[in-house]
Amino acid sequence: MLDLATTKVHDEARQGEQFAPFTNDPNIYGKRFYIESYGCQMNFADSEVVAAILNKEGFGATRNVEEADLIFVNTCSIREKAEQTVRKRLTDFKRLKNEKPGTLIGVLGCMAERLKSKFLEEEKLVDIVVGPDAYRSLPRLVNEASDGQKSVNVLLSREETYADIAPVRLNSNGVSAFVSIMRGCNNMCSFCVVPFTRGRERSRDAASIIGECRDLFEQGYKEVTLLGQNVDSYHYISNDGTEADAVSFASLLEQVARISPELRVRFSTSHPKDITDDVLHTMAAYENICKCIHLPVQSGSTRVLQLMNRTYTREWYMKKVDRIREILPECSITTDIIAGFCTETNEDHQDTLSIMDYSNYVYGYMFYYSERPGTLAQRRYQDDIPLEVKKKRLQEIIEKQNQLSLNDYKKDVGQTYKVLIDGDSKRSSEQWVGRTSQNKVVIFPKQDNATHKKGDYVQVTINDCTQATLFGSIA
Ligand code: 5AD
Ligand code: SF4
Repeated sequence: MLDLATTKVHDEARQGEQFAPFTNDPNIYGKRFYIESYGCQMNFADSEVVAAILNKEGFGATRNVEEADLIFVNTCSIREKAEQTVRKRLTDFKRLKNEKPGTLIGVLGCMAERLKSKFLEEEKLVDIVVGPDAYRSLPRLVNEASDGQKSVNVLLSREETYADIAPVRLNSNGVSAFVSIMRGCNNMCSFCVVPFTRGRERSRDAASIIGECRDLFEQGYKEVTLLGQNVDSYHYISNDGTEADAVSFASLLEQVARISPELRVRFSTSHPKDITDDVLHTMAAYENICKCIHLPVQSGSTRVLQLMNRTYTREWYMKKVDRIREILPECSITTDIIAGFCTETNEDHQDTLSIMDYSNYVYGYMFYYSERPGTLAQRRYQDDIPLEVKKKRLQEIIEKQNQLSLNDYKKDVGQTYKVLIDGDSKRSSEQWVGRTSQNKVVIFPKQDNATHKKGDYVQVTINDCTQATLFGSIA
């Protein structure tokens, strides 16, 4: 797989990523932990919080599962397939535990929350089960588990944002980092398990977010991505503040952008119903706020959108796209699409294909519907579209997206873009890989005698492309 853009929601290249040991860590640890992460960027950001909590308690990180005393899997429940992958990994770890009986295995994240203590009964090898709001209790749970007790904490919280914990950066290239700005989700999309696994929405203290971004910039980072399930509904009021002091997402975005014009700012994910003109105008006002919006459509049919409880119609979504094009003509739009939701007809499916044309997505995450236990859709509707039909529609959606991406990338040939260098290209240390403001990956040769390094901005003229990569040379 090519070097993927970093704000992708479920970056396939990162699934199962292990934690890198802290660089230049001089400490000697009594115990070492290994952590593997699945799911969305929020989950990867959470693993960085977990690493910080464990490290403070004297645990060191390892990338080598065989030398670990503690094995953690940070899990995802969004589709059945994600859960199956995790179960498979747990059986691999079971073998390790048989060889090294003192090893403790912990399940973290959304699947832990969904299955709770059932995990301990079903997967006999698991010692610790911790939900996304309970990571502060990890040191205690590890101690209890070391004494032979099975430990579970899956309490969800209305307040926890881990605001005061400085995450230990995972496998970072030192150029871009993720900063969590809120947790949970109050939207009740009928297909989605997230409100059940991550609880109610809450916004993190604005000052701690800005502080974290400033620290990152001072450490040499050049790009921050503000993360949340629904960033546009960010709304922070301090304990002693009133509604009049509330910080909105637009205002937070502006404050982060003002840290330095050299710091790029991205954000993900936006719910179409919540992204306001204020946010779009703020994006237009600051060159360093990247011109890229992830705007999941899910379906192009008003009838299906209603069943999904998305709270917008096809026409309303199209108007939002118009508004983005009006205020931000250079903005790329990416999306998420679900094929074969309950009762979806061929006509509904055609509506999805046509809204893709209308929105001209640069990239899409495309899935077929997977019924999740406990969701509104599971309780209310029958999962009545046969798997072959779901797969066929998904294939058509993927083909459409490939075509849209290729056409869009072709238009960039001949243009010159400001590119932030992420590092060496995977294929060759003689080439750089970087990204444009629109989050398109660009590969270009290093110049002889030039002093460029990763984290620098360079102007690159595009001379060729595929549907996922631009190729160019330094202008
Ligand atoms: N089945 C298929 N796709 C889903 N998503 C969320 N829940 C489901 C489900 N039950 C997709 C949505 C969402 C993305 C993160 O995952 O498109 O935006
Ligand atoms: Fe992220 Fe949702 Fe998967 Fe949880 S279930 S890891 S919130 S995508």
